[in-house]
Amino acid sequence: MRNILRKYTSLSFTFSLVFFLAIGIIHCTKQPKRAESNKKTLSFNGREGKRLFIHYCAPCHGEDAEGSGRYFPSYIEPQPPDFINSEYLKETNENVMFRAIKFGSKALGKSNYSPSYDETLRDEEIRYIIEYLKFLKMSKDEES
Ligand code: HEC
Repeated sequence: MRNILRKYTSLSFTFSLVFFLAIGIIHCTKQPKRAESNKKTLSFNGREGKRLFIHYCAPCHGEDAEGSGRYFPSYIEPQPPDFINSEYLKETNENVMFRAIKFGSKALGKSNYSPSYDETLRDEEIRYIIEYLKFLKMSKDEES
């Protein structure tokens, strides 16, 4: 009788051990779903656009494209436009921007302060810069 009892307790012990082990394994293998971030990331071309913008344009246009470049004297009018906190990017279109960058702001009948990059940048590179500026504007708008 004692033997049978002992047999049963060890059997139920083994069962519960297997049961909890199984629960443990299921729990560990079920990976929590990765929180989906809805923050957009900059494309490869956009990153190249950023590099070019920082190198060529930021001295006048500012690193954040807000028109507060370190090397553009504050007493000169007109100042570089604020691409981020204004409606500029929404009101203009890509081809106008493209022309302003490729041939300089004078090609739009404005001042000649924004230089022509016809000899410096390839057409695709100009498009990358525009893509980057649109990304910056979109990120800023989503933030606020
Ligand atoms: C020497 C300073 C300077 C540099 C360098 C410069 N810009 Fe400008 N940019 C200006 C100024 C000033 C204006 C405003 C011109 C005006 O309204 O007459 C301007 C205007 C613009 C405009 C607006 C044109 C419009 O529709 O009114 C665009 C787009 C632009 N720049 C893009 C660029 C890009 C891209 C680069 C770099 C590849 C660049 N600029 C480099 C000073 C500069």
